[in-house]
Amino acid sequence: MLSNQAGDGKRTSLHGQWSSKLAFVLAVTGSAVGLGNIWKFPYVAGENGGGAFVLVYLVCVIAIGMPVMMSEILIGRRGRRNPVATMELLGQEEGSSKNWRYAGLLGVLAGIFILSYYSVIAGWTLSYIVKSASGVFVDASAAKVVAELEAFKSNTAQMSLVHTLFMGLTIFVVARGVERGLEQAVKFMVPALLLMMLVLLGYSITSGSFGAGVEFLFTPDFSKLNWGSVLEAMGQAFFTLSIGMGAIMAYGAYLPEETSIMGASATVVAADTSIAILAGLVIFPLVFSNGLQPDAGPGLVFQTLPLALGQMPGGAFFSTIFFILLSFAAWTSAIGLIEPGVAWLVEHFNKTRKEAAIIVGGVIWLLGFGSVFSFNLWKDATVFQGTVFDNLDFLTNQLMLPLGGLFIAVFAGWVMCRNSTADELGGAGTAYSAWRIGARVVAPIGIFLVLFFAIKNVVA
Ligand code: PHE
Repeated sequence: MLSNQAGDGKRTSLHGQWSSKLAFVLAVTGSAVGLGNIWKFPYVAGENGGGAFVLVYLVCVIAIGMPVMMSEILIGRRGRRNPVATMELLGQEEGSSKNWRYAGLLGVLAGIFILSYYSVIAGWTLSYIVKSASGVFVDASAAKVVAELEAFKSNTAQMSLVHTLFMGLTIFVVARGVERGLEQAVKFMVPALLLMMLVLLGYSITSGSFGAGVEFLFTPDFSKLNWGSVLEAMGQAFFTLSIGMGAIMAYGAYLPEETSIMGASATVVAADTSIAILAGLVIFPLVFSNGLQPDAGPGLVFQTLPLALGQMPGGAFFSTIFFILLSFAAWTSAIGLIEPGVAWLVEHFNKTRKEAAIIVGGVIWLLGFGSVFSFNLWKDATVFQGTVFDNLDFLTNQLMLPLGGLFIAVFAGWVMCRNSTADELGGAGTAYSAWRIGARVVAPIGIFLVLFFAIKNVVA
């Protein structure tokens, strides 16, 4: 076992430390803000009828997401190892069991599964950079933009190529390590993406159907809600915040002692949620003003945004910039997805970061072909939830992440003693008590109930 006990009794991480609080907040925000906000949120909200889904999602973010995120960071910082070793170590230290390591392992696995399909969609964004730059979308009609996406989806070779390219980029950054690799990638991406979304918002406000978009997003129609969509909303909250699988725990392991976990979590949750809502506000008005369908599925943003951008002055330019930023956002999230597995291989099997990144990344790359083929060769081979892509998405977002979150909340809330958690969260005050109620009661019960009723519905 590697020793990482510092002289003063506080542990340090083998992989180094964030150079500042800002670097940590940016890295976590970089991990949180990604395809989940701009690609996934609009399309799942669209498929689930809008308003009521959005409301459940927001409740989950605040009541479950926030306490789980704080729990993950504090566990990570206390253990200072990869999520598997951290859960094992703290499980023992807190007088429970080594077997908590399996909760860490579940997270490593979830990260691998998620990245396998995430990388495929990230590949689409890479492809759309090139399409945009070549002017394909300038003044294009809705029909043309839709046809372009259909043609791309059936092009197995091209999709394989961009998936490969994206995994290569991810492996490259992760191999370089915490400070040199992760920090630099996020410093400019998040602000730039936010700015770009604001420009698009300006366009969508003037597009004519802004009111219809706002109504769709914010008027809850509870008849459209069932336990399946409640589970989907909760899964989306986990996915978009990057919680429930150890990504944030791994980042927490590199967090300096003095940084406030509450402040950092609140900033990240606020930034992530604003960007998702902003994406919804950009996309739905465009959907309605162009006669597109809100329930178009995973292709939604690849239809609406090129269409809108193509109609703007300087369309090819803005569209190119937008997809570059989206690729960046996906890239910084991919790093979070692979980091737990890489850190685990380095610490547990004595691999170098480079070797570990290549091994884990290679496995993910191979698995990714299941999702590439889901849009073409295997698109009709559907079981249970649908294609390989649909099943991976369901398994990870709606089962593995909530389950991981449940373990994390129970661990921080019940297994760790009050002294340990108060120590990490800066002492017992009102905010600490609020977290503790969240982690002990609200999050576990909420997650359990949603999982229970949703699964019961599927089985019944
Ligand atoms: N939060 C990321 C997104 O919204 C996805 C992600 C999930 C990243 C889990 C890391 C861990 O795109």
